[in-house]
Parts: sequence; C-alpha cells; structure tokens
Amino acid sequence: MDPFVPNLLAGKTAFIAGGTSGINLGIAKRMAGLGAKVAVAGRNPEKAAAAAAEIGGPDVAIGLSCDVRVYASVEEALQIAVDAFGKLDIVISGAAGNFVAPALGMSANGFRTVVDIDLNGTFNVFRACYAHLNLPGASLIAISAGQAVNATMFQAHVCAAKAGINHLCRVLAMEWGPTGVRVNAISPGPIEDTEGMARLAPTPEARVAIETRIPLRRYGTKEEIGDAAVFLSSDAARYITGAVLTVDGGSELGDSRLGASLGVS
Ligand code: NAP
Ligand code: COA
Repeated sequence: MDPFVPNLLAGKTAFIAGGTSGINLGIAKRMAGLGAKVAVAGRNPEKAAAAAAEIGGPDVAIGLSCDVRVYASVEEALQIAVDAFGKLDIVISGAAGNFVAPALGMSANGFRTVVDIDLNGTFNVFRACYAHLNLPGASLIAISAGQAVNATMFQAHVCAAKAGINHLCRVLAMEWGPTGVRVNAISPGPIEDTEGMARLAPTPEARVAIETRIPLRRYGTKEEIGDAAVFLSSDAARYITGAVLTVDGGSELGDSRLGASLGVS
C-alpha cells in the first residue's frame, strides 16, 4: 500500500536539477505520481526530453537543458519551469559527478569538476531559485551522500563536495527560515540500478561485499529516496529544516559484520 495519500502534492510545482536520470528521476516520478508538476534539468537535452516523457508528458513534466556549474544557465532553466508551471514549491539539487581515483591520480581539474557540479551547483540552484519560490512553505532539498561524513578512499572530491553541501544547507536553513523556506538534505545509501553504484561497485562481487556490511543487508531503491523527498516536502515535515535525512539502511553506522567477530549472535 502507498504510504502517502493520493494527490498529496496536487497543486505543487517541483524543479529537480539532475532529475533526468537515476535517483533524482525516481524522485521526479514519485512526486508526479502524487500530483506535482515537475521540471527536470540536466546537461543533455535529449535525455531531459526522454525523462519528461517517461514521467508523464507535457501536462505533468518538462525536460530542460542546463549546466548547474553555469549560473546563467540555471537561471534560464528556472525561468522556463516557472513560465510553464508557476512558482516553485519544491526544489531539488541532485546533479552530481563521480569517478573513482586516488588523490594522487586526480588532476586539479578533476577535483574541481566534481566540487563544481556538486557543491557550487547546489549553491547556484538554491541561490537562483529563491526569487521563484512560493513563500512561505517552500521545500529545498540537496542530495548528499555518506561520503560527507565518512572519509572514503579514492573519493576526495566527493567527500569534500558533499560535506560542503551538508553545511551549506544548514546555513541556508538559518538565513531563509524566517521567510518560510525549509532547506534539508537527503543522504542516500547505495541505491540499486544507478550510475553512481555502477561506478563505485561495478561487479556483482563488489555489490555483495557492500550489502553484507549494511545493517538492512540490501541496496535501497529509487522509490525509497523518492518517499523521503516527498516526506520532506510535505506538511508532515513542516518543522524540519537544516536536517540531513539519512536513508541508507543503516550504512553510515558502520560495518555491521563486526558483531560476528565478538562471537555474539
Ligand atoms: P545519475 O543518474 O548520473 O544522475 C546525475 C544527474 O545529474 C543526471 O540527470 C545528469 O544528467 C545530471 N548532471 C550531471 N552533471 C550535471 C551538470 N553539470 N549540470 C546539470 N546536470 C548535471 O546519478 P545517480 O547515481 O542517480 O545519483 C544522483 C544523486 O544521488 C547524486 O547527487 C549522487 O551524488 C547521489 N547519491 C547517489 C547514490 C547512489 O547509490 N547512486 C548514493 C548516494 C548519493 P546529464 O548527464 O545529462 O547532465
Ligand atoms: N580518473 C581521474 N580523472 C578523471 C576521471 C577518472 N576516472 N574521469 C574524469 N577525470 C578528470 C578528467 O581527466 C578531467 O581532468 P583533466 O582536464 O585534468 O584531464 C576532469 O576530470 C574533467 O573531466 P571532463 O570529462 O572534462 O568533465 P565533464 O564535465 O565532461 O564530466 C565527470 C564530469 C568527469 C564527473 C563525468 O564523469 C560526468 O559527467 N559524470 C556525470 C554522471 C555521474 O558521475 N553520475 C554519478 C553521480 S554519483
């Protein structure tokens, strides 16, 4: 049974940066399924158009081309979304880049590229959307990751960027709370069928190795992250701001195989 009432988000408009694939497209579909109008944006215009069609077509979704690293491009995409569907109630900043490389195998441009997409991109999306928000009551959500709090080898760029995102959200929550804007982050654990996990765990063996350490013993689904985003954007979360909602089956708690080594079951 669906945990949310039908049409929970009817009358709401969402802009989802990085919403043209993966987890963020999952969020877009979940929100549209509950009645929201959604604009999804990514660099590739064909991918954006295909995503919008998959979500439900022009009455429900539009696909936009933008590069979150370029402020003017974000502003342009936001304006098109607002012209199509009206002021924004929900804004998700989920665009990201990742590759696995040791710090010594990463050029300055490689490091900068990921920080630019993830962290600077989140500032750009949130800063530019403010003028288009339905106030009070707007919900802004950044998509973070466990690397924000767990130092992770070969992920120097992502660790730095996602830690920055968590703290940026806290500052914006303080500055924008008085006008009725809530700013939160979601930190997903490993999510199945995503580009992120294809890069971080490219083999079935790597997936099993990760799953055996997770307290809930499995990857999460895009729908589960969609549900968290719906919750944070609903009235049920009206007093929640500046929070990082971790949705990871307990991954961040540590390696849950360790109890076995103590001989206690
Ligand atoms: P994904 O499918 O590769 O999604 C990335 C999205 O961002 C795409 O829509 C991509 O479209 C867009 N994008 C990339 N660079 C962009 C740029 N410069 N400007 C605008 N859009 C850009 O990845 P995913 O694995 O689902 O990850 C989605 C989010 O969840 C990311 O924030 C990631 O860090 C986070 N996350 C993922 C996992 C996981 O298990 N996958 C775990 C924790 C956190 P274009 O390529 O067309 O630009
Ligand atoms: N190892 C080391 N460096 C790498 C690398 C790798 N596997 N992949 C890219 N880089 C470096 C490049 O060499 C370049 O540095 P250089 O100019 O010093 O050579 C720098 O990163 C930028 O690469 P480029 O391909 O020009 O960037 P882009 O803006 O076209 O693409 C990426 C950005 C690299 C993050 C690309 O992987 C991407 O578009 N990712 C989006 C999808 C994604 O990562 N999804 C998962 C989200 S969790």
